[in-house]
Amino acid sequence: MKAISVLGSTGSIGTQTLEIVEEFPQQFRVVGLTASRNLTLLVNQIQKHCPEAVALADEDLLPDLKLRLDTLSNERNLKKYPELFGGAEGLNHVASLDHADLVVTGIVGCAGLLPALAAIRAGKDLALANKETLIAAAPVFLPELKRSGSRLLPADSEHSAIFQCLQGTPWAENARLSTGIPTPGLRRIQLTASGGAFRDWSIKDLERATVSDATSHPNWSMGKKITVDSATLMNKGLEVIEAHYLFGLDYNQIEIIIHPQSIIHSMIELADSSVLAQLGWPDMKLPILYCMSWPSRFETPWRRLDLTEVGKLTFLSPDNQKYPCMELAYAAGKVGGTMPAVLNAANEEAVAQFLNEKIHFLDIPKVIEESCEKHKNDFQDNPTLEEVLSVDAWSRKFVKEIVSKGTSLLKG
Ligand SMILES: NC(=O)c1ccc[n+]([C@@H]2O[C@H](COP(=O)([O-])OP(=O)(O)OC[C@H]3O[C@@H](n4cnc5c(N)ncnc54)[C@H](OP(=O)(O)O)[C@@H]3O)[C@@H](O)[C@H]2O)c1
Repeated sequence: MKAISVLGSTGSIGTQTLEIVEEFPQQFRVVGLTASRNLTLLVNQIQKHCPEAVALADEDLLPDLKLRLDTLSNERNLKKYPELFGGAEGLNHVASLDHADLVVTGIVGCAGLLPALAAIRAGKDLALANKETLIAAAPVFLPELKRSGSRLLPADSEHSAIFQCLQGTPWAENARLSTGIPTPGLRRIQLTASGGAFRDWSIKDLERATVSDATSHPNWSMGKKITVDSATLMNKGLEVIEAHYLFGLDYNQIEIIIHPQSIIHSMIELADSSVLAQLGWPDMKLPILYCMSWPSRFETPWRRLDLTEVGKLTFLSPDNQKYPCMELAYAAGKVGGTMPAVLNAANEEAVAQFLNEKIHFLDIPKVIEESCEKHKNDFQDNPTLEEVLSVDAWSRKFVKEIVSKGTSLLKG
């Protein structure tokens, strides 16, 4: 039985991971959970999964959590009282529990970086959904991963698709490591993108895009931040950087292709020009399960793909004018070093400002570009962890300043 810790257990990735654990009680058990603020759901998960340890990112809520668990315990409605931890240290502790075999990282944003590092430093295998960790800190993260011998299993559906396709190649052993070592014979990858909430909108229409419009994804049900990232296509840009670091490809070998049905989750082209793809309904449970069961495959009763029901699979080139975030991500990725961390932090802050209705949807790429431009003076090629965290903090502050000043940038 594999022991699993779930970081960000109350989110979209976290809850789907726990659903898988419930479906396969003979194969998986939960040892650790972390959340930030959603106490009601967390308490429910503690009752159901009986973890050894639980951490809350928001330490101020710890007394409330304790009170709720005490009440349940007194009513004999709690089978096991977990050890409770709070704040950054608490998250790191739960990410590195002795008994855990695999840590699923479902925290949103760069907040997932330190717990993910704690997990690999403790030698845990990592199911990586939290792409921002790798994007912000690959120059630190990948050498640590190599030192620790931990295995990085991609949970993002596109990277899982590539990873799954690579298992069928002569370089499976290399591909299994996912440490950014180039895979010989892998010529190109194509990341598919649904096109997000605004796929069928014109550039002109985007001027009236609201928060509610941007958070309605046509195919996938996900957290708010990644849903907005899908609407700007920054999500795909971040995935390009993620693929570069995971599979060791140059940026000119990583392409984005719009595929509105989200049935093909991504493709690889090999040296002999053969193209391999992984297909399935758009459902994150499949890539998450593959991380949890790898290298095995489990029998599931899940809805089977019926291509006659899908009817048509269509493909389009992405529109760079409509989606400037893609180009910003390629540019930051090519610069490397601290630049992806700045891009990522600027994007996180810009999306938060958009969700709070402080800036317009079309302002998101503008503030990210400004942040990356400004960072060119302080760019570092081979940063330490402290330097990554420092530029991350700087970039968020810089975006907040632009927004609070309401500069001409946001009016143009
Ligand atoms: N959702 C998907 O289908 C999907 C697909 C591919 C990749 N991903 C990636 O997976 C990650 C999670 O996405 P999601 O959609 O699951 O997000 P989500 O639904 O917003 O969930 C985020 C989780 O992180 C916790 N959290 C929020 N802020 C935190 C902080 N500062 N410190 C520690 N924990 C914090 C939340 O806790 P509370 O709920 O308690 O506040 C929640 O458990 C993202 O990196 C995303 O890009 C997601």
